[in-house]
This record gives sequence, structure tokens and C-alpha cells, in this order.
Amino acid sequence: MGDLLAFDRRDLQLDSGAALLSGFALQFDRALLDAVAAIASAAPFRHLETPGGRRMSVAMTNAGRLGWISDRRGYRYGDTDPLGGVAWPAMPALFRQLASDAAAAVGFDRFEPEACLVNRYEPGAKLSLHQDRDERNLDQPIVSVSLGVDAIFLWGGQMRGDRVRRFTLHHGDVVVWGGPARLTYHGVDTLVRAAHPLTGELRYNLTFRRAA
Ligand code: SIN
Ligand code: FE2
Repeated sequence: MGDLLAFDRRDLQLDSGAALLSGFALQFDRALLDAVAAIASAAPFRHLETPGGRRMSVAMTNAGRLGWISDRRGYRYGDTDPLGGVAWPAMPALFRQLASDAAAAVGFDRFEPEACLVNRYEPGAKLSLHQDRDERNLDQPIVSVSLGVDAIFLWGGQMRGDRVRRFTLHHGDVVVWGGPARLTYHGVDTLVRAAHPLTGELRYNLTFRRAA
């Protein structure tokens, strides 16, 4: 990805290989939320346990061939939902297309995610600063779609102690990071109580990854 911005003026290059695409998913919001509801009816949201034994405040489920899970044994991807022992719900075609188009808009062609982690934030939920590094394939970018209540995205650097910048993620925004930015530390600040017409007090996030 060069220095010339190939995307919309409202969009924001966070770093080389990372951009916030304002409203990129907005036109699909209802379809995306309907798909989230369908996924959750087959594979319910649950609060996973960290390897250290803490209950995560963000509730999670997955769609796609692989799903991200955490328990006492560690973080990993699995091809079945540990709750039911069956495959995760299929990734909707709309999800795959949106993720691939967003990645391409930031210069990552032919992104074909096989995992979609679905995060659900209630007021008070947060995600501490972390790197996405449970994927075997770090050549592929991360695509992250925000729906519902606004959140503050924490965007750090390549080291845990690097300066952290804060960006508001609105309903329909998409963040893409890959290449030199693939292992950037990031997180989500404590969700403030607010209401969105389509999701009430909740925020949803779809994180697309090539895991294997
Ligand atoms: C994540 O880092 O997995 C989720 C980011 C977000 O919820 O925006
Ligand atoms: Fe992450």
C-alpha cells in the first residue's frame, strides 16, 4: 500500500497497511445484523474463559469453517462449536464478499477469510490491548466490521508499550490491517451505555481472518 490514498476522503489511513473505511458496510447493515441473529440462533453468544481463568466481558460466537475459541487450554481455532460439538454456522456469502471488498480497498487482493469471529459488547464490555496472532497465516489481513453502538478503538504500535491512538468506530465502519501493520496492538475501550436504533445498547463486531 502506497502513500497515496486510494480510498474515500473520509477514510483514514492509520498506518502503512492499515485503514479505517468510514461507513463501508453501512448499506448492508440490516442484512448483516439479520445474519448475526441467524448465526447466534445456531451457535449462541457465550462469554469465553481466558487461559488465565477470567470470563471475557465480550460475548462471542463464530461463522465459517473455523472459529476462534479460548478456554483454560489456550487460544485457538476449532472447526466445531465446543457448546454443541457441531460445525460452526456457514459464513454467509455477504460476509465473504464484504470482507474481500474491504481488504481490496486497502490494497489486499483476493482475501478469502475462512473464520468470522462475532463479538457482542454490552455496556461495560471491553477488549484489552492485544495482537491477533493465533493465525498460522500472517500474510493475510484482518477485516473488522462495526455495527450498533459506537466504540473507541485503541490503535497502538508493534510493541505493547507503544503510544496508543483512539478512534471512534461508528455503525458501518470497517477497519483493515495487514502487511506491516498485521501485528499491531489494538483493543476496544469500555463500551459506554448508549442506544442505537438497530441494536439497542449493544455493539457487534465481525472480525474476518484467514486462520490456517
Ligand atoms: C478484536 O480485536 O477482535 C475486535 C475489535 C473490535 O471489536 O472492534
Ligand atoms: Fe483483535
